[in-house]
Amino acid sequence: MKEPFLLAGTAFHTPQCGTLEILEDHLFIIDGDGRIAEILPPHHPAFEARKSAARLAGKLTELGAGQYLLPGLVDLHIHAPQWPQLGKALDVPLEVWLQKYTFPLEAKYSDLEFARETYSDLVDGLLANGTTTALYFATVHTPATLALAEICLAKGQRALVGKVVMDDPDQCPPYYRDADAANAVADTRRFIEAVREMDQGERPLVQPVITPRFIPSCTDAALQGLGELASHYGCHVQTHCSESDWEKNFVEERFGKSDTACLDGFDLLTRRTVLAHSNFIDEQDMDLIQAKGAAVAHCPLSNFYFANAVFPLRAALDRHMHVGLGTDVSGGYSPSLFDGCRHALSASKALHGGVDADLPPQERGA
Ligand code: GUN
Ligand code: ZN
Repeated sequence: MKEPFLLAGTAFHTPQCGTLEILEDHLFIIDGDGRIAEILPPHHPAFEARKSAARLAGKLTELGAGQYLLPGLVDLHIHAPQWPQLGKALDVPLEVWLQKYTFPLEAKYSDLEFARETYSDLVDGLLANGTTTALYFATVHTPATLALAEICLAKGQRALVGKVVMDDPDQCPPYYRDADAANAVADTRRFIEAVREMDQGERPLVQPVITPRFIPSCTDAALQGLGELASHYGCHVQTHCSESDWEKNFVEERFGKSDTACLDGFDLLTRRTVLAHSNFIDEQDMDLIQAKGAAVAHCPLSNFYFANAVFPLRAALDRHMHVGLGTDVSGGYSPSLFDGCRHALSASKALHGGVDADLPPQERGA
């Protein structure tokens, strides 16, 4: 419990998708839990009295010219261990990028000191960019992933943190993978319990997430075991879904169905599931995602590099699907969700306007 305080200034927020509300020169009363308890407009009869009392008590922060309040930004898909790779290694396709650059980098988080130092810098960097909530992929290492949760808790960032599961020896190198499915599931169970122990508040700031990296890196047994954990613990689930041609074809060849249908078959598609990318989902997949109440993390910048396709955001929004934005650091080179908003617009323009100048304009866009 901290001391309550007041903020005076102008705030922007979007109470509903498509509606922007501007609260000009309002007074925001923040309670001891850090929540907004009251908002007073300037014409409110108590406005001046409350403001002067707070000023006298040294509990008033007044925003200056050009300063505004915004709701905290939520990064729905980010790889914490890839922070040192930001803006680098963008020259090869996804399946090569993972083996050539990303798995070797993530393997370094067996070193807890390196993990603490890097994660601390990452969380500071995200908070400075306005990201007050993040849905993190970490690595296969439980100690380093617990350290990430502790750092978020200490710095006051709301975080959903996942120990990554990747156990298939055909897809994951010997130096960076879970020993086998049983160990992957047992480690995830211990991780869930440890994070829940770390923050036992009514509305915990840090929460555990079941995190199969993506279907190609997991055995059937691991996916099955993680689905059982999701049902048992009722916690969040995150994974990559239908991201690229290679990934989508891999899953179709192995199971004869889409990523979405597969995840549902393993009980991994729930109201608390976030599917990163989902560029190649069809109408049936959309229906299933929506029926389950799951969400998509749209990662527009990363899609330009690794997906060769654009997520149909407008269609998803029009049907009221749950969608948020992810930076996908380091598939995306920017940690800023403001950049994410800009890239979402560019991606939408490219999708609907088209990009091939050899086609007539009426045939160019999707
Ligand atoms: N698919 C599996 N792992 C990853 C990853 O680290 N980044 C992206 N963009 N896609 C993935
Ligand atoms: Zn990703």
